[in-house]
Amino acid sequence: MSELDRPGDRDLVPKDWTYAPAPESRDIVHLRERYGLFVGGEWLEPSETYETISPASEEPLAVIGQGTPADVERAVGAARGAFADGWSSLPGSERAKYLFRIARILQERSREFAVLESLNGGKPIKESRDVDLPLAAAHFFYYAGWADKLEYAFPNRRPQPVGVAGQIIPWNFPLLMLAWKVAPALACGNTVVLKPAETTPLTALLFCDVLRQAELPPGVVNIVTGDGRTGAAIVEHPDVDKIAFTGSTEVGKAIQRRLAGSGKKLTLELGGKAANVIFDDCALDQAVEGIVNGIYFNQGHVCCAGSRLFVQESIYEPVVEKLKRRLETLRVGDPLDKNTDVGAINSAMQLQRIEELVASGREEGADIYQPPCRLPEKGYWFAPTVFTNVAQSYRIAQEEIFGPVLSVLTFRTPDEAVEKANNTPYGLSAGVWTEKGSRILWMAQRLRAGVVWANTYNRFDPTSPFGGYKESGFGREGGLHGLEPYLRFDE
Ligand code: NAI
Ligand code: MG
Repeated sequence: MSELDRPGDRDLVPKDWTYAPAPESRDIVHLRERYGLFVGGEWLEPSETYETISPASEEPLAVIGQGTPADVERAVGAARGAFADGWSSLPGSERAKYLFRIARILQERSREFAVLESLNGGKPIKESRDVDLPLAAAHFFYYAGWADKLEYAFPNRRPQPVGVAGQIIPWNFPLLMLAWKVAPALACGNTVVLKPAETTPLTALLFCDVLRQAELPPGVVNIVTGDGRTGAAIVEHPDVDKIAFTGSTEVGKAIQRRLAGSGKKLTLELGGKAANVIFDDCALDQAVEGIVNGIYFNQGHVCCAGSRLFVQESIYEPVVEKLKRRLETLRVGDPLDKNTDVGAINSAMQLQRIEELVASGREEGADIYQPPCRLPEKGYWFAPTVFTNVAQSYRIAQEEIFGPVLSVLTFRTPDEAVEKANNTPYGLSAGVWTEKGSRILWMAQRLRAGVVWANTYNRFDPTSPFGGYKESGFGREGGLHGLEPYLRFDE
């Protein structure tokens, strides 16, 4: 062997297989120091402001407007004007052109949006790049296709736009939730006043740039930033015809009370506490991947997260053992690193809520497991967590944690699985893992959940309706069903 080929005292196989850092460059994002409110196609100077930060570093990113009732008044006025001034009577095929344009621009600028989404919200870049952005663009493409076919979607029902839609969205999928709200509203001929969540306004503000690029008529989409007070002003405005809300069950209930008797249309997409049910005949390793995707995707800030794991007793040990081993390989850290699996918790407030619920789990007697991982000093972080030995009555088995925390429970028979899975005030989603098609159908018929995934989890598609039962809300987004809340029918 030549000198070069001889391994010497080096190991033939490296001992350390950890990834080197692979940070995505921030340079593509051009932040302004200060953002106004986007009303009637112009930037309005806000009278009150606050600062938005990066949850991974606590670094201030920009100054944002805190919309007042007077700002909301102007935004609703602009939306009403645009509705009356041609948008609602534009042929569907013309509206579609704008939606197609928006979709294409989102695709063209997807890297910029993905970096900004991760910067402002803390989610891993591989998720914003591979999930949020492609799905947001797909949503606009999909509803662009419906804009001139509403008569076929609802034959003999003479579909008409509702008017001005007030839309309030959360911080877990900021741009994607905007797409879910704006695309069907515009396809149906409505105009929009949208409020992003207070912690994640930046992609919605960058979206205003896209609207201008697409030459969408001014006033068709207005973006008013601010906290819950701004949201309440939208809900209460008498000239808003429809409210679409995604967020906490608590605020959803308050909105429903507020709108009772007003004649305004309402859809609510609220919390969840989904059951992910693992039968002993499933493909174990795939199921473990599905469990991980179900609860650690987006730090568990997912309304349909599989936060209650039900494992058939006969396979309890191997599932928990495989799961713990898999957790050790999850990379927690910098959201802009392309290798990161679990990013930052979205806000100090959310971190506090997770910590409080996790403490209650320990106190009530559950066993906690967290893999060894070094969390960054600054920013908001929480290690992936599994609770075993959980009783159904524990708070961690009942309440939405909205963080990377899994509660493991067991069952013996399919009937018991159904009973336990449905033992929750929520009903947004569920997962079933089994080799038997007949069992999947049997379970899907009995689980009280808006979506039931079989041998997969957290799959989204714009053609497929999404929404809840019970305290998870009502109304559907996505698919043909997602058009209906934005239409009235002269029957
Ligand atoms: P939240 O429901 O307060 O916020 C969601 C949106 O509603 C934000 O844009 C917020 O500014 C707005 N809002 C707040 N109060 C309002 C009001 N009175 N009228 C109108 N709009 C209002 O949710 P928050 O406080 O951020 O999170 C609390 C918990 O809610 C989380 O821990 C999680 O369990 C759940 N949640 C569920 C979401 C889901 O996708 N289902 C999304 C966000 C939170
Ligand atoms: Mg709140």
